[in-house]
Amino acid sequence: MKDRLRVGVLVSGQGSNLQALISASRAPGYPAQVVIVCANRAAPALDHARSAGIETAAFLRANFPSRDARDQAMAAALKARSVELVVCAGYDSILTPGFTGQFLGRILNVHPSLLPAFKGSMDAVDRALAAGVSETGCTVHLVTDDVDAGPILGQRRVPVLSGDTPARLHARIKAEEHRLLPEIVRQIAEHEPSLRR
Ligand code: GAR
Repeated sequence: MKDRLRVGVLVSGQGSNLQALISASRAPGYPAQVVIVCANRAAPALDHARSAGIETAAFLRANFPSRDARDQAMAAALKARSVELVVCAGYDSILTPGFTGQFLGRILNVHPSLLPAFKGSMDAVDRALAAGVSETGCTVHLVTDDVDAGPILGQRRVPVLSGDTPARLHARIKAEEHRLLPEIVRQIAEHEPSLRR
């Protein structure tokens, strides 16, 4: 098999999307592999990486003079591992232009709404529920400097059910994210030769 696409994943939280990608990459023939996981805090997600024997790195804001300096260090770590695609999987910092400029067209984000609805925050599920919409969902899109507004690569719809709490609704949205994200990464790895370094 051709060399697999080298993926770096950025996390801040539980890491269920990271785990979905790791699990998918174990299937024979899956064309991408997670080579490093970077966090901006001591995220539980890092445990998924460690259990899978994947390198981890933490870039705590307190250890750098600025967000830009933090992002430059993170970009350097990703480049040192020859990362070809960056995936934000529950990453809660906005990437600086100094970072995005180094991975133009190579950064994905997973967001728990049908963008452009409920963009620009980490509480999209609560906002959808509060707004009383009958359906919401999830989106995988390319990251640009316009937050949550880059080109959409895929979406899945999720109905809002009576009696839903934010946690119950988010769990059903995540179940869709766990299918959508590995599928989009697979499509990119198979059909975007321009990403291969
Ligand atoms: C996911 O639902 C993802 O869509 C969301 O954070 C969750 C992370 O879950 N991302 C955002 O809200 C980005 N604005 P996970 O850590 O279990 O993968």
